[in-house]
Amino acid sequence: MRVAALPDDRYPAISDLRRKAKKNIPFFAWEYLDSATGEEAAMHRNNDALGKITLVPNFMKGFLQPSVETELFGQKFSAPFGIPPIGYTSLMWPNAEQIFAQTAARHRIPHCLSTVASDTPENCGPLSGEYGWFQLYPPRQEKIRNDIIQRAKDSGYKVLVVTADVPWPSMRERQRRAGISIPPKITPAILWQIMRRPEWAYRTLKRGRPSFAVMEKYVDISSLGNIVQFVGEELGGCLDWEYFARVREQWEGPVVLKGILSVEDAKSAVKAGADAIWVSNHGGRQFEAAPAAIDVLPEIAAATGKDAKIIFDSGIRSGGDMVRAIRLGADFVFAGRPFMYGISALGEKGADHVYELFHHDLVNNMHQLGIETVEAMKSLELRRD
Ligand SMILES: Cc1cc2nc3c(=O)[nH]c(=O)nc-3n(C[C@H](O)[C@H](O)[C@H](O)COP(=O)(O)O)c2cc1C
Repeated sequence: MRVAALPDDRYPAISDLRRKAKKNIPFFAWEYLDSATGEEAAMHRNNDALGKITLVPNFMKGFLQPSVETELFGQKFSAPFGIPPIGYTSLMWPNAEQIFAQTAARHRIPHCLSTVASDTPENCGPLSGEYGWFQLYPPRQEKIRNDIIQRAKDSGYKVLVVTADVPWPSMRERQRRAGISIPPKITPAILWQIMRRPEWAYRTLKRGRPSFAVMEKYVDISSLGNIVQFVGEELGGCLDWEYFARVREQWEGPVVLKGILSVEDAKSAVKAGADAIWVSNHGGRQFEAAPAAIDVLPEIAAATGKDAKIIFDSGIRSGGDMVRAIRLGADFVFAGRPFMYGISALGEKGADHVYELFHHDLVNNMHQLGIETVEAMKSLELRRD
């Protein structure tokens, strides 16, 4: 028996990376990464609800060789987890999008680039190779939508993810209090925060300040203020089933609808041709009264899991959380903040570290539970505290 080696034993858990990330990046960037909306009840609800689910192990299984290889949309992945869309990513660590894309290709897991990422599909798509997904916040203008979809195709993205759960910007009180504004206003307080994080400051200076790179093509980019105003007016507030059906027609590969919390929406998504339902409450960042995503997962999986794949995120922090989600009906899971904590903490090595940590933890959980396949997670004995 051998304990799995991690790239750096100082960070054996996501909570270690979270602590380190907080020390490594300016306070305003930290608040953007770590916060949720309102009093953050939805974010805490996610973690509490996952923690209440217990799994009963079976022993006496002899020598086990767990494999976490997973197939989704006819493609093999090295594990049943991936890196979800994260907007304005380079604010939290310069070049984070490219680091994520390279980690995805190296480890054979998906990375989903956001419409509001601070790098382009043209730069990141080739880096993620066969493992790139692209996330669409719906543009109002048809010609912009068509162009973004075409760019994602031309850049090699395989899966299109349409995000449903941002019909309107949320309050994000913690971000407001921290003085986050786009474009950034360099107040004395913000300058002080930047000066205290010299590596972040140096890298940001070298890379250039983050912007909404995907959207820059469609607006006069002489001022960041222009871009921000344009993005605010152009994206969102227009998604309905007809819109989704048009997007569906335009994309030959799998289409996923992200941010679903109700059986009714999940059924409509299947009718409209979605290949997967992504059950998520956006990590608690959008709607404070939303249910914990894990609590609605079983009913959505029961109603639509035969007709579509079920993807899950919101609150995943460990291999054990992944097993819980798969047991409750997910075919695949994503973890948002954990991957971002990894990069903000450890820079270029950060996403690889999170991959290794999750991979080892998942295999470890399978040994504890006495199972060898991801499929076997689906029939584990489950209790609730
Ligand atoms: C900083 C940050 C930015 C995000 N930006 C996007 C985005 O641009 N598009 C999107 O669909 N989801 C976005 N999300 C939500 C994630 O894709 C994912 O649903 C969420 O992080 C899952 O919750 P978790 O952080 O608890 O794992 C963002 C999340 C974070 C933390």
